[in-house]
Amino acid sequence: MTVPRLGLPNLGLGVGLRSIHYPHLLREQPAVDWFEVISENYMDSRGRPRHVLDQIASRYPVVMHGVSLSIGSTDPLDFEYLKRLKALATAIRPAWVSDHVCWTGVAGQNTHDLLPLPLTEGSLRHVVSRVRQVQDFLERPLILENPSSYVGFRSSTMPEWEFIARMAEEADCGLLLDVNNVYVSATNHEFDPEAFIRALPAERIVQFHIAGHTHCGTHIIDTHDHPVIDPVWNLYRLAHQLTGGASTLLEWDAQIPPFEVVHAEVLKAKHYWAVSLDLPPLPDGPAVSSVPDVDIHEGSGRSIPQPLPSLLVEVQ
Ligand SMILES: [Fe+2]
Repeated sequence: MTVPRLGLPNLGLGVGLRSIHYPHLLREQPAVDWFEVISENYMDSRGRPRHVLDQIASRYPVVMHGVSLSIGSTDPLDFEYLKRLKALATAIRPAWVSDHVCWTGVAGQNTHDLLPLPLTEGSLRHVVSRVRQVQDFLERPLILENPSSYVGFRSSTMPEWEFIARMAEEADCGLLLDVNNVYVSATNHEFDPEAFIRALPAERIVQFHIAGHTHCGTHIIDTHDHPVIDPVWNLYRLAHQLTGGASTLLEWDAQIPPFEVVHAEVLKAKHYWAVSLDLPPLPDGPAVSSVPDVDIHEGSGRSIPQPLPSLLVEVQ
């Protein structure tokens, strides 16, 4: 059973800290294993968000998840950003700090989007070098997440899973495996999501993300506004088996339901931890034995529906 996770703990089943849930969390102090916080929402805050975070961090394990590191950009690393990130980490003592395998802008401009990288030897060397610099500066391992994507580079010379696996080994960093992102990208780019997951170094996977998405017929948008679908749960089950388990976090970022609904969604993960066990069916979900092996794309009859070749672009 693979478990090392860089020596980091399995925190259990957590949810993203979202402001709409602040009153409920402060009032009820629900029994939640841990919270993930968006780093940038609290780095510069001296007001209520930071006050709430301080209370949450005093009661629950927390993990910092960033969206602006832009590890793949050709801009120089932003050490002012990293100073603020490190200061927040020093203050709230997260179990770890994560971000994405992506770039978010260039020439000082932030697109506020997680853009895919050209998957080449050159960009791999670039990213590995920068991950090492960031880890040295933060004095802690960096945990990097596979993003969902809708376009790719014709110049790419390797699949995304090879890029991420080599990055993790060569930079000696951890991985956040977003199982929903694998499903979204696999659908949009027509690759095998299980092959992606099997290719990653399981012992470096520190955390999982699960989430819902929106199927648009010809492609999937990673909207984080629905429950997790069965094919994504099945991928989670595979990842859980390969890793021996890791901290699992449900992302729900739009049309956010009451906290109890979000929490109940992540608790379903328990039913995918050990499929050899004869687990009872969930009261509001499928029994493990009834989980299908195919996607929910109605009428497609294919496990990976609807490629997106029309959006394959060439960027020099
Ligand atoms: Fe994610």
